[in-house]
Amino acid sequence: MPSLPRILFLVGFMGSGKSEVGRRVAADLGWSFEDTDRAVERERGQSVERIFQEAGEERFREAERAVLRELSGRVAIVVATGGGLFLDRSSRHLMKHGGATVWLDAGLETVRRRLGPGTGRPLWNATDPIALRAFYGRRRAVYALCDFRVDASADTPDEVAARVVRTIHAVYH
Ligand code: S3P
Repeated sequence: MPSLPRILFLVGFMGSGKSEVGRRVAADLGWSFEDTDRAVERERGQSVERIFQEAGEERFREAERAVLRELSGRVAIVVATGGGLFLDRSSRHLMKHGGATVWLDAGLETVRRRLGPGTGRPLWNATDPIALRAFYGRRRAVYALCDFRVDASADTPDEVAARVVRTIHAVYH
């Protein structure tokens, strides 16, 4: 069995629980934890929402790619990635080569229930369910490129975190 990867990247749609689950997985492994959205906010001194409004999405994407490059040099860390980061080909490459990628797969109804009006999430479209479903479907096709998929729909963050740890330990020691 191969030994644990240096980094565990949690990937998935908005509201799939990456941060809450990630923090628990990190605690379980005795690793550190980082969330790319929070790292971007610290670096720029503004909320994600504000960055989208004032600088635009492309600037936000540049900032999150830069954060990822920095984090890719770390060891023994769980990284919760913003829902769009894995869509970027070079970031995906970095994640796939720098560690293991875990897709937290939560159903659209689950994320809808969790996010409600989607406060603070500029790309969450609560007013057009058809567009949202299409967006969600396109994202899933890319998230499916992750090394592991963990069902993150119905359960509590503790249960999902335990599932992630079990999945990882089934492959690595
Ligand atoms: C985004 C998801 C958000 C945040 C930004 C863009 C996306 O992160 O990075 O609003 O493109 O899906 P969460 O997945 O943590 O909500």
